[in-house]
Amino acid sequence: MFKTIIEPFRIKSVEPLHMTTASERQKRIEDADYNVFLLKSDDVIIDLLTDSGTGAMSTEQWAAIMRGDESYAGSPSFYRFESAIHDLMGFPFVVPTHQGRAAERILFSVMCKEGDVVPNNSHFDTTRANVEFTKASALDIPCVESHDTAAVYPFKGNMDIAALKAAFKQHGRDKIPLVMMTLTNNSGGGQPASMANIRDVAAVCKEHNTPFYIDACRIAENAYFIKLREKEFANTPVKQIVREICNLADGCTMSAKKDGLANIGGFLATRNPELARKEKELLILTEGFPTYGGLAGRDLDAIAQGLKEVVEEDYLNYRIVSTAYLGEHLTRAGVPILQPPGGHAIYLDAARFAPHLKPVELPGIALCVALYVEGGIRGVEIGTAMFGRHDPKTGTETPGPKELVRLAMPRRVYTQSHVDYVIEVVSEVYRQRDKLPRYRITEQAPFLRHFSAHFAPIK
Ligand code: F0G
Repeated sequence: MFKTIIEPFRIKSVEPLHMTTASERQKRIEDADYNVFLLKSDDVIIDLLTDSGTGAMSTEQWAAIMRGDESYAGSPSFYRFESAIHDLMGFPFVVPTHQGRAAERILFSVMCKEGDVVPNNSHFDTTRANVEFTKASALDIPCVESHDTAAVYPFKGNMDIAALKAAFKQHGRDKIPLVMMTLTNNSGGGQPASMANIRDVAAVCKEHNTPFYIDACRIAENAYFIKLREKEFANTPVKQIVREICNLADGCTMSAKKDGLANIGGFLATRNPELARKEKELLILTEGFPTYGGLAGRDLDAIAQGLKEVVEEDYLNYRIVSTAYLGEHLTRAGVPILQPPGGHAIYLDAARFAPHLKPVELPGIALCVALYVEGGIRGVEIGTAMFGRHDPKTGTETPGPKELVRLAMPRRVYTQSHVDYVIEVVSEVYRQRDKLPRYRITEQAPFLRHFSAHFAPIK
């Protein structure tokens, strides 16, 4: 066997990268008030801001786009989309949405009310926001192993079963309308949950007669980790592992911009006909008729094809190995990352990277700016700028739980030499880490401030 895992595709259409110099980038980032969200993407060389909607489609997906049927009602594109989800996941009722958060809004609007509690291994920020919008509270109960960023544990995306049981005891079954599991756990470092843990969560839900839902954004990546790391599944096809996960659940929300391998789209799925009826009523109000849900017919066809390709094991092997390649080479260079490497991203541990900076001095922002200026790489801070809280009355700042910078890998977009370049740039910034300046926030919005905040280095 050869040790090089090659990209299992060749390139038919190319997009030029816009090369810039460090001094040009210094000017661009000053103009963007040191917030990488405010850069123009043309000014970025390697864009690792997100793996969402940024993947490259296959020739079969482009062919499917041409087959898309734009009928308002009853389009064959919808039936192909529905049948791909039936085939992969087995949920009988499928409701298309324009992306994941629309599915979340509809699901929680139908299931939650004021005072309810929704446990999750870790809510993604839009999931949390949509739970809280119904005046319910979003309870994160990741496993204890997930708290130490340096610890290597195969299933850091697991839910803390003792904490789940305690939540039922404390709040009572009537206050918990559903339990959700995010696969893989994005806010927790792109880490997978084991089948054993998913089974335990499903069993606790069953005991309390409570619906169990999955945030299935990266379910194929999670299933591949199960195959690699859980003996029982070493010889099981990934597609079958996905089905086995879904068999334990009552339904899911999905952003097809991740493991749907599409640039837009999402869906809700359930086994409950009454719930599906209510979801479709809400869908018509804001998203569209139930056979398109805010998507074009061509998008539905691209997703139908993407859901077939995403469980191909040559693809998943390349996907997981290439993310790990970045993580392993950075680790070898001494760069502190959240261990072990996740499925869709590597999370630099900015707190250990720049220990001379306190959380309120925004080490993650300092690192994002340096990566951009040094090599035109765009990552995203997942730290105090994103999750810290500012008290406008006292001016005090409460730090976020961790100081991370996520380098998310778009699917099928960058080659190994792009990744080698990223390793070189990050290593160089690490060598000069003592020079990373302190930052402060000069302007911020009251909600989701990280998208639009202005920052400045403290001279
Ligand atoms: N759930 C998870 C776990 C996610 O990672 C995302 C999006 C969503 C739900 C919402 O889906 O964007 O289609 O509305 N994550 C992107 C990211 C934005 O960069 O991680 P959406």
